[in-house]
Amino acid sequence: MKDNNIQTIYQKTIDFAAEKHGQQKMPNGLPYIVHLSNVAMEVFMAHKQKPDFNLEISIQLALLHDVLEDTALSFKALEDDFGNVVAMGVLALTKDITLDKKNQMDDSLNRILDLSSEVAIVKLCDRITNLQRPPKKWDNAKIKKYHLQAIKIAERLQGKNEYLDKRIQEKILSYNSYV
Ligand code: NI
Repeated sequence: MKDNNIQTIYQKTIDFAAEKHGQQKMPNGLPYIVHLSNVAMEVFMAHKQKPDFNLEISIQLALLHDVLEDTALSFKALEDDFGNVVAMGVLALTKDITLDKKNQMDDSLNRILDLSSEVAIVKLCDRITNLQRPPKKWDNAKIKKYHLQAIKIAERLQGKNEYLDKRIQEKILSYNSYV
């Protein structure tokens, strides 16, 4: 029988993501895989509090959410390894860089809302983990924009998971001290 428990899925997926992201770093200089595992950690905690979504799908989305945006991997290759549902979710979480910068977030949120709630849940977890002390090189305008963007994400994706709705509101509130 194929071993398909969540631990096996997690390990297969994080190995894949670590290999694809290679030497990519977070703004604080740590390996990018730290960000991806932090998003997965938020997904696990949300599922523990309110298990009203599919954990297998959302964990794969958490670990793979930047693999199309930040690496050379193609949609087709991702789909071959992880299936259509995961690949479509990752695509919705990927900015369309052919659009004007100011429209990219709305466009991504529209595509996220067309799919199942797991995709929205990963977007919420991604922003929750990123609402920390801003990188030193960010100016005030960039910090303000990031804050407003977080408010928009929380509003538009509200109702997908009660626990995450509360958690992102708390993080937005505490981010106020940097704005
Ligand atoms: Ni991210």
